[in-house]
Amino acid sequence: MVPEPSARARSGLEDVVVGDSAITLVAGETGGLAYRGFEIGELARHASFEGVLYLLLEGDPPTTPQLAELTRELASRRVLPIALQRAADALPAELPPLEALRSLVSTMGTRSFGYPPTRAQGYELVAKAPSLLARVVRRRKGAAAVAPDPELGHVANYLYLLQGRRPTERALRALETYFILLADHGMNASTFALRVVLSTQSDLASGAVAALAALKGPLHGGAPSKVSDMLDAVGDPGEAERWIDAALERKERLMGFGHRAYKTEDPRARIFKEVARVAAEPRRFALALEVERAALAALGRRRPEQRLYTNVEFWGALVLEAAGLERDLFTPTFALARTAGWTAHALEQAGANRLIRPDVDYTGPAVGRTWPTGA
Ligand code: ACO
Repeated sequence: MVPEPSARARSGLEDVVVGDSAITLVAGETGGLAYRGFEIGELARHASFEGVLYLLLEGDPPTTPQLAELTRELASRRVLPIALQRAADALPAELPPLEALRSLVSTMGTRSFGYPPTRAQGYELVAKAPSLLARVVRRRKGAAAVAPDPELGHVANYLYLLQGRRPTERALRALETYFILLADHGMNASTFALRVVLSTQSDLASGAVAALAALKGPLHGGAPSKVSDMLDAVGDPGEAERWIDAALERKERLMGFGHRAYKTEDPRARIFKEVARVAAEPRRFALALEVERAALAALGRRRPEQRLYTNVEFWGALVLEAAGLERDLFTPTFALARTAGWTAHALEQAGANRLIRPDVDYTGPAVGRTWPTGA
């Protein structure tokens, strides 16, 4: 039985403000999201992932020379040193990619990370994580690793390193938008985990390992592949209503719906739906449209007070499918985008650090029990 929360405790820290941040505004009631004052729609239309990374870390968009400098910096750091190549090749081939990435970021931490975190360490994390992930994925398939292409940007390089060929314009645009929109999201579970670790004066790589561990769970970043599974299980648009009702009858959660912060449609879902409309396979898009319609109708009917709407993972799954990614790469790809936000939060945390150490209301037995003698 789940115990009643004590009067002072807020279950799941809902609505608890844990600090100040100047990075990202999440407007849950109105469905708004902005990085450093730039709405995500504006960024999706005009920025690159590199530009957003710079914005998150520095607070303002880069000038053309600053963007060129950052692009060069990432390109030079994308190449894996022999020690990291060996670490990647030594992992058990059956390790799921997210867990492989978590292990390899941990290995990276023994090299050049210390406290306080620096921008250079952040670039190291952002640049090397896709190379590490792609290496283990190609090895799993028995394919040789590919060297990064200095002509390509960050997101294009990720697809190139994975697939061994330059991506199509359509796949690249879809995934670039994905990286931009997933780059940060306020005090989400993985970022909070990272900030707790950084607050002990531990390093950025250790914080990223904690963040990756938190991201794995389906209540946070582990949902999008399950959205694809759900679409497969529904199979036909005509089956959507019956399938959704049966799932809710079994008390299952519908993946890709509901959000702690948003009490309306997730703004990222709105943009991804339009990306998917162009990039996804038309029959898949039509199926997703019908599943979304049936899910929103059923959730609205059964749980109107919860205000459950489409979240980023639902249409995000279609975008990742359209970019040609396999399902077990969905959450790792989310993580690659989020390394930008994690770095920004690590720098912000260290800039005004105090140990994060909350309190808890004790609800155990009264003190004064006696230990059984002779036991
Ligand atoms: N389908 C069915 N019921 C739901 C859903 C859903 N997707 N989401 C919430 N509910 C129900 C819960 O069962 C709960 O019912 P109860 O009060 O009878 O137990 C009630 O609504 C409140 O749910 P909580 O879990 O308390 O809400 P919370 O704010 O903690 O959860 C969460 C948010 C975890 C995202 C939830 O909506 C969920 O599980 N969604 C499905 C998983 C998912 O899509 N995760 C990705 C989130 S986006 C991201 O992190 C990037």
